[in-house]
Amino acid sequence: MIKIENQLFHLQTKESSYIFCVDKHGKLIHLYYGQRLENDNEEALGQHQIIGVGSSVLYDKTDTTSSMNMKLLELSEPQIGDYRVLSTDIWSDKQQATDFKYVGYELDKVFQSDLPRGHEASERLSIYVEDSLTGVRLELVYEVFYDSNVLSRYLVVTNTGIDDLVISNLGVNVDLMNDNFELLSYHGGWIREAHEYVNDLGMGRSVIASTTTSTSNQHQPGFFLRSKDSNDVYGFNLIYSGNHMSVIERTPHEMVRVVSGVNPETFQWTLKSNERYETPSLIMSYSKGINKVSQNFHHFINQHLVPKPWANKERPITYNHWEATFFDYNEKKLLKYARSAKELGCELFVLDDGWFTERNNDLSGLSNYQVDPKKFPHGMKHFSNKIHELGMLFGIWVEPEMVSEKSELYRQHPEYALGVRDKRYGRNQLVLDLTIQEVRDYIVLNVKNLVEEYSVDYIKWDMNRHISDTESLAINHGKEFSHRYILGLYDILERIFVGSDVLLESCSSGGNRFDLGMLAYGAQVWSSDDTDPIERLSIQGGLSRLYPLSVISAHVASELSQQTLRRTPLSTRFNVASFGVLGYELDLTYLTSVEKKEIKAQTDWYKQYRKVFQFGLFTQHNNVWQVTLDGITIVGIFQKLTSASPPSDRLRVVGLDPKKLYHVSSKPQRIFIDRYKELIKHVIPLDINPSGKLMELTNQYFSLQDQQQELIASGALLEAGIWLNSQYLGTGYDKQLRLWGDFGSTLYVITEKENTL
Ligand code: DGJ
Repeated sequence: MIKIENQLFHLQTKESSYIFCVDKHGKLIHLYYGQRLENDNEEALGQHQIIGVGSSVLYDKTDTTSSMNMKLLELSEPQIGDYRVLSTDIWSDKQQATDFKYVGYELDKVFQSDLPRGHEASERLSIYVEDSLTGVRLELVYEVFYDSNVLSRYLVVTNTGIDDLVISNLGVNVDLMNDNFELLSYHGGWIREAHEYVNDLGMGRSVIASTTTSTSNQHQPGFFLRSKDSNDVYGFNLIYSGNHMSVIERTPHEMVRVVSGVNPETFQWTLKSNERYETPSLIMSYSKGINKVSQNFHHFINQHLVPKPWANKERPITYNHWEATFFDYNEKKLLKYARSAKELGCELFVLDDGWFTERNNDLSGLSNYQVDPKKFPHGMKHFSNKIHELGMLFGIWVEPEMVSEKSELYRQHPEYALGVRDKRYGRNQLVLDLTIQEVRDYIVLNVKNLVEEYSVDYIKWDMNRHISDTESLAINHGKEFSHRYILGLYDILERIFVGSDVLLESCSSGGNRFDLGMLAYGAQVWSSDDTDPIERLSIQGGLSRLYPLSVISAHVASELSQQTLRRTPLSTRFNVASFGVLGYELDLTYLTSVEKKEIKAQTDWYKQYRKVFQFGLFTQHNNVWQVTLDGITIVGIFQKLTSASPPSDRLRVVGLDPKKLYHVSSKPQRIFIDRYKELIKHVIPLDINPSGKLMELTNQYFSLQDQQQELIASGALLEAGIWLNSQYLGTGYDKQLRLWGDFGSTLYVITEKENTL
């Protein structure tokens, strides 16, 4: 996987190659990243610059082609005539460390890291470079995740001298040649996370960064460069949960530099003698087509990032009462929901915000861990037992990084809250200073107690504000705060969750901290507080470019969306949520008998195909989503708005064997008659008042089977596309019509028929 010959380093994954070498000046020259190669040599791979370029600064005056600005480099350095974006800024006394030269390499070096990393790399290469003047030595680490087609890169600096080193910036750079690239990146805000934006890669610098002390719902750290000429795609993401910055620079000579790491705008680090500093890992993957790169990332996250016990483990179906009750609940009410959820097929009951003292709204109570006796008169152990007796797992919500002024901890230790200069409030709350050891100990102790005392199976770890007061009395330099906060968070998560069986779902007002760092500790993330399935098409569509469906938590909520006031059919709410970790979050009290029956059918069906949904190969094209595993393919086709007399559309399936025959069948789903009001008289032989009692009653107990389509087709034909039953055209009813209207959708299951063509 790592071939080394004459100072040429060739890193191979199953389908890609990454190659660099050491030149005569001791510099690391990037040669190639792309489709897997076997034996090509440096001469064939390298740039062939014959004479110097005007207006360039030479690294070596005797070598006219030694302008570092014209080379693809593995390490960007200041002061050597490289004018692209730099990611190395280290100072020793008054000297800036620069001119790092190759001194050697080591294979499979083992060490402990303070930051989350991928586990079980196939091979690891450490390249050492040193600046002779300051004595600063850098280690460039390359990890090969062979089976995932993923490489990971990070840098390590150890202060081997006596004086402090000051690091103002340190990140990984990847240099490529432009190939008519477009940049695909993911942006949003609360309830509109991870929408995909596609832009031609502009000349100059494009920047993706966050300053919220989280990865943020505004700018996802992951992105892709896609060639418009060759369909080559390079994907990048950081294993980090704090302020990040990626700069993608395109130069007039059509070189592209990607620099990625901790955001230098909010960073500075003093490294004392013998201390070591590491950058977060930049993971990257190359393939033909974006779906393939996404699948590589999915494989890496499932197999090499989430806690090992969850690698291939199916996630339970959740019932969470939050959207049904907010803070207004008690044990009796919740047990009613739990019993109903159990009957409907849910496997995990999650007790959300509001269970502890002083917490009847979002004004107070955060950091208290005492159970509210008014809501739980028999205590939490009693409630947890009741959930377990139902045969469900018991989950509980916490928001440990936060404190309310009205709370026991704040009354005793106001100094634990951030805000040395001024206190700023987000959702009425303050942030605990995780750079303080006692604060971390308080959180670890309380969350661990909770898990043990109440036999907790699952924790929803929430974090409901951006951080603004980035000063701490516990540290020397203010600009160390943001990174130290995240190191503090990782320390806490490590102490609570490593080696434990508890399923951690991370959450931050939905997807404000959806990142690879959190996924190293918890196997799923609450993707968004937006449960409207049509909005979720964009949110889950964007997230699934970077993260597998096994980590994307998705719930079926009420018909009328609490976020958008849009009404959507139960079938579409389920169809979208099933492309993720399924859960339900609606008020179960007011469901009709037919809705309950349909939800039970949905959970039964999902359990049958859960493995395919959570771990299958996922592809997406517009609003058509496909998953495939072990010979079963499921395709979801989703319609946003309908049009009058809509044109016929087709089901296209990718990746089948063209020579084999397949059985195609649509998932059975029910239509509820109150959606069609007075039009229902065309279907059933009764003239019912659309707003009358009879309609209400009929809707309780009577529903229609949606159209069902079944046929046999070859893989080749399915790739070309088969026609679907036509949609409602305004001319009448037939039970084979797709009555989609706005927001309609259907799932199709495609399985191999024994005999081939
Ligand atoms: C934000 C989360 O995203 C919601 O699901 C819910 O847990 C609330 N916080 C509770 O305050």
